[in-house]
Parts: sequence; C-alpha cells; structure tokens
Amino acid sequence: MLKIAEGNRGEIFLNNGKVVKRYKKNKPNYAKKEAAFLNYLQSFNLAPKLFEVGKDYIVMEYLGSFSLKEAIKVDRMKALLLGLEASYRLDRLGVYHQELGRYHHFLYSLDLSWVRVIDFERAKWSSSPRNLFQFVGFYLREVELAKEIKMYKKTPEKGYFAIRSKVLRCIKES
Ligand SMILES: Nc1ncnc2c1ncn2[C@@H]1O[C@H](COP(=O)(O)OP(=O)(O)O)[C@@H](O)[C@H]1O
Ligand SMILES: [Mg+2]
Repeated sequence: MLKIAEGNRGEIFLNNGKVVKRYKKNKPNYAKKEAAFLNYLQSFNLAPKLFEVGKDYIVMEYLGSFSLKEAIKVDRMKALLLGLEASYRLDRLGVYHQELGRYHHFLYSLDLSWVRVIDFERAKWSSSPRNLFQFVGFYLREVELAKEIKMYKKTPEKGYFAIRSKVLRCIKES
C-alpha cells in the first residue's frame, strides 16, 4: 500500500485504486462515525463512495488530488460556485462538516465538472449546519453578503440563490 497522506488522526493509503483511511491507534476510533456520514451521503454525489468499513479503517473512492486550492487557480469562479453549492447541499442534508475552511477537504475533477467533500471525522448531525457560512467566511470574504446571509437564515433556498448571483456578479476572475 502506498501512503499518500498523514494527518494527525489518520493515515491515508492508496491500494488497488482505492483509498484506505486508517485511524491511528492512540486516537478515538472514528471509522464507524465517518462511515455513517459517508453512507448517508452515498446517493448525493457529495462525498467519496464508501466500499468497506473495518474496525479502525474505511475503504473509499479515490478522488485524485485536485483540491480547492488548485481548482481556484484554474477557474476561480467555477471552483467557488461548486464549493458553495456543495456546502449548501450539506446544510440542507443536516450534516455539519465543521472543517470546510481547509482547502484540501474539497476535491475536484480536473475538468471542474464536480466536487466532493472529504473527511467527516469531525462532522455532526445538525438542524442548523453552518457549512455555507463557513464557506463564505473562508473563501468569499471579498463579497459583501450580509443581506443575503440574513435571507439565507430565514429561507435557505432563496438565500442561497441570492448569494450565488451576488458571487457571480462580484467575484473577480483569476
Ligand atoms: N477519498 C480520497 N481521495 C483522495 N485523497 C484523499 C481521500 N481521502 C483523503 N485523501 C487525502 O488524504 C488527506 C487526509 O485525509 P483526511 O480524511 O482529511 O484525514 P485527516 O482526518 O487525517 O485530516 C486529504 O487531505 C487528501 O489529500
Ligand atoms: Mg482532514
């Protein structure tokens, strides 16, 4: 197995084209927890496909290494709109990821036709998730969205489309 990453909570390997995430021994065992979120998200094209759950590991789809950081350099607008949409959809599904401020938790296809969110170790079930707020706070600081955010709190769908159009109008192309 080829080790492709090491976080403080897990080690990531590539094995036969699939990703094995092994949770470190001295850390609480998050395999079941992360698997539960991935399982729930399976049909929504928002997260990697889950293949197997073990005692201290999960096996999932390999999504490449093209993160939000690289995607922004290629097509800033497209990358941001896809990330915003993914954050919004996680909100609507009641999953609060909590760590969307990290570029590498968004992985894109090279042609920017899709994005997936990874690492649900810290995720929570929530009736008022703040994924979209996190996304806006980290990556869209230059866009004045106070009014639209207020709208989002009241009517998420309407607010989301208002935020989206404002971003389309205000973001400078890279
Ligand atoms: N499904 C995946 N496809 C491709 N790369 C992945 C995948 N899952 C994890 N990685 C890589 O491994 C790194 C660490 O994974 P992550 O789930 O964030 O672990 P940790 O909980 O240790 O932060 C990611 O930033 C990414 O580079
Ligand atoms: Mg991580």
